[in-house]
Amino acid sequence: MTVSAPTAFNDRSSTLRLLLSRRSGKARDLVAPGPDDAELRQILTCASRVPDHGKLAPWRFVVVPKATRAAFGEALVAVLKAENPQATPVLIDNTRAFAHQAPVLVAVLSRVKRDHPIPAWEQELSAGAACQNLLLAAHALGYRGNWLTEWPAFSEGVVRLLGGEPGDRIAGFIFLGSSDKPLEERPRPDYDAVVSTWAPACDL
Ligand SMILES: Cc1cc2nc3c(=O)[nH]c(=O)nc-3n(C[C@H](O)[C@H](O)[C@H](O)COP(=O)(O)O)c2cc1C
Repeated sequence: MTVSAPTAFNDRSSTLRLLLSRRSGKARDLVAPGPDDAELRQILTCASRVPDHGKLAPWRFVVVPKATRAAFGEALVAVLKAENPQATPVLIDNTRAFAHQAPVLVAVLSRVKRDHPIPAWEQELSAGAACQNLLLAAHALGYRGNWLTEWPAFSEGVVRLLGGEPGDRIAGFIFLGSSDKPLEERPRPDYDAVVSTWAPACDL
């Protein structure tokens, strides 16, 4: 049986350029402009359009607006002190600074349905794909992004602070904005080091 040849997007070379040129900007360097409300809606719509076995939508996006960042930073510090009474002043300052970075901040929650035929691993991978689509959509609109975790991503208190449900995990904090700083390219893996072609080696 033959099927018709795949229809490539007319702008496929720009799509490939987009994929091949994505790289992170440092969250601390990101300043205005960031995506406006309409652009952020587009970005998060793209982030929701990821492979999702079982149509579970096993992720949530929590936007932390610039106007509430000071409150968010203080709330993060309160969680830090509650969970880690030994937190150093440097970590406390860094935590506050973490919350203030970039014009746009989106926390991505991984919300896994337990005891479900779709394995948790697949649902978690879908949340990672959502983060990546989010970054790519922002890149397509000309913004820089940075996917960070740090201690807040591993704190149940921060999950609650974000309005998450018990069992939710934080896939990451994604910071979006602009910067004039030149982006240094980082070494990328050698193609042959990460790609192989399977061949039957032995009888099972
Ligand atoms: C799940 C996840 C969490 C990350 N958390 C951090 C982090 O907390 N701090 C950091 O410096 N980089 C973190 N990174 C790496 C950056 O997001 C980024 O990928 C890295 O700096 C490489 O830049 P590139 O995206 O241009 O390849 C994380 C990446 C992933 C996938």
